[in-house]
Amino acid sequence: MVLKRATQKTEIQSQISSKYKIIVEGIHKTYLLGTTAVPALRGVDLKIKPGEFVGLMGPSGCGKTTLLNLIGGLDYPTRGKIYLDNQDMSRLDENQLADLRRDKIGYVFQFYNLLPLLTALENVMIPLHFQGRLSKRARKRKAMELLKLVKLDDRADHTPSELSGGEQQRVAIARAFANDPSIVLLDEPTGDLDSKTGIEILNLLRDLNRKGATFIAATHDAAVSEYCSRVVHLRDGKIITGLEISGLKETPEMREARLKLQAQYKEMCENKILSIVREQIQQQKYEIRLAFIKEQIDDEIITNLPLHFDDLVEELIERKEFNGQVKSGVIYIQNPQQGSDIV
Ligand SMILES: Nc1ncnc2c1ncn2[C@@H]1O[C@H](COP(=O)(O)OP(=O)(O)OP(=O)(O)O)[C@@H](O)[C@H]1O
Ligand SMILES: [Mg+2]
Repeated sequence: MVLKRATQKTEIQSQISSKYKIIVEGIHKTYLLGTTAVPALRGVDLKIKPGEFVGLMGPSGCGKTTLLNLIGGLDYPTRGKIYLDNQDMSRLDENQLADLRRDKIGYVFQFYNLLPLLTALENVMIPLHFQGRLSKRARKRKAMELLKLVKLDDRADHTPSELSGGEQQRVAIARAFANDPSIVLLDEPTGDLDSKTGIEILNLLRDLNRKGATFIAATHDAAVSEYCSRVVHLRDGKIITGLEISGLKETPEMREARLKLQAQYKEMCENKILSIVREQIQQQKYEIRLAFIKEQIDDEIITNLPLHFDDLVEELIERKEFNGQVKSGVIYIQNPQQGSDIV
């Protein structure tokens, strides 16, 4: 009887935990740069169900790539645990992690990372080499099937330099699928592509996701979030829950409310930026660091913006609210006489 109850309990426990493909629990990651500690993640909790397509959004430096690398077993957290299929990754040594990466995970990096001297087909064949069990012919056949999947079988013999950015990204996606991964990690999958090519890639990813693998995509691109089943927002190494939305499940009413709220925060932020810029120009300071402006604005406003803070500054310049140019995190004010007329 006792035994039966205990068995029932473990069954229930495993049913509960196996609901999730990935569990991220209290993850911290601090990089050491010389003697300086850079806290990249500061307590991240996230649960992802099998087959989800999670978008990881947030400004540059908020920790997206760091989180993907930890989930992908490319680096170790400073604190906290990650479970893939209920397996505690912190218990795995280097070799076991390498096996897990080979067996379970597909990576698509921002800059494709294709080997320049190999053809598209050979690039896709690389992960298949490590699978041992396939003959060379079988590897070639499989790589060709994958290229067909991304509609590039007619370019199999071309090297990356003979392919467009979008085509290279499709090769990278085919390569990521070579080991039949159950988890696919994508870092800025549309990062370097024009919007039309970006949409093509997203349609392809959505079709691939529907075949069953779990996807996590780090991105700045709002278009990506439209394709996700859920969007998680990261800011300064933490997940902000306020804006967590279920991309496809968001009702029109929820969407309207969210857009309205974001528009209000955007307006508040614009006013604040303009008043700080005006103040600086009056003091004849024509080089203004973005960080200097940002630190004077409430976190709540920054956190709830519908776009990247830096992009908002660019937008104000495009709208000619003031004359300037942003380079490496600094606004360089031009025509300060005209600029001082800003409202
Ligand atoms: N290897 C490293 N050594 C030291 N600091 C690092 C390292 N990698 C990342 N960082 C720092 O950790 C923070 C998070 O970086 P991360 O690359 O995860 O951000 P991100 O959200 O992917 O940014 P982006 O959108 O620009 O790709 C940043 O402050 C970054 O400077
Ligand atoms: Mg990144």
